[in-house]
Amino acid sequence: MRSPVPETDVIAGRYILATHIGIGSTATVYRAWDPHEDRAVAVKLFLDRCDTGGVDRQCRELRAMAHLDHRNLVRLLGVDRGRPFLVCELVEGETLAARLARGALSAAQVAGIGADIASGLAHLHARGVVHRDVKPANILLCAETGRARLTDFGIARVLAHSVLTRTDAVLGTAAYLAPEQVAGEAVTPAADVYALGLVLIEALTGEREYPGTTVESAVARLHRSPRVPDGLPVRLRRMLSGMTSRQPGGRATAAGSADRLGAHRPGTHR
Ligand SMILES: Nc1ncnc2c1ncn2[C@@H]1O[C@H](COP(=O)(O)OP(=O)(O)OP(=O)(O)O)[C@@H](O)[C@H]1O
Ligand SMILES: [Mg+2]
Repeated sequence: MRSPVPETDVIAGRYILATHIGIGSTATVYRAWDPHEDRAVAVKLFLDRCDTGGVDRQCRELRAMAHLDHRNLVRLLGVDRGRPFLVCELVEGETLAARLARGALSAAQVAGIGADIASGLAHLHARGVVHRDVKPANILLCAETGRARLTDFGIARVLAHSVLTRTDAVLGTAAYLAPEQVAGEAVTPAADVYALGLVLIEALTGEREYPGTTVESAVARLHRSPRVPDGLPVRLRRMLSGMTSRQPGGRATAAGSADRLGAHRPGTHR
């Protein structure tokens, strides 16, 4: 379905906006055409204009993400400070959030998605990047390959210090925060492993493990560990408990999780 595009439908003199494909808390995402490369891309236009202070540094940080290239990561193709936007590879398919709105997934499907995203995270972690916002809306299920790909890496940290966000915007959601993030402690790659563990448990049950308001959700994980559903293969069950261990040091690495989840991988996500 076509819907109106902004007053300027060419961004940075290059990307021709076509249709609106999604909206998040900080940005609107459009399908666009890149005539230089002769390909469709996703253009993410942030809601507010950039101010000057600090923006150069933020753009530099984001540009550094453009070098990250991995089959389970949605590649960042460009970033601009005049009118804040990012250009990413366009993934034809749906988000895991949209898929879960139709119901839970099987253990094998969940393991496949988990192996893909853990593999993307391992690539980020090996390069010193912590995602910080692993959640179903940032996992894109590619219709063509059946593979899951992670997007928006590195953005959470930049946005947290940025004028790009509206002052009332809540960054991401509290639902997938690791206990140490809630407690204001140091955030390490283990926080991404925890968030992925919660996402996979939600994909199996069809329900958020820690629902409620931001505060209710955030505090609940400090009081009880996530409930891994019964009836799973023992090794998968152990894996999910380990990924969501209360202590960051008790969790598997993303690379280790990718290997072990991969053992349960099926052919497709459908
Ligand atoms: N590279 C992409 N290819 C195809 N669709 C995309 C791409 N990136 C984002 N989308 C679509 O745009 C929607 C909005 O994305 P955006 O990242 O702005 O918000 P979000 O991740 O859903 O939520 P939040 O703003 O809370 O992080 C996504 O839910 C998805 O449907
Ligand atoms: Mg997103």
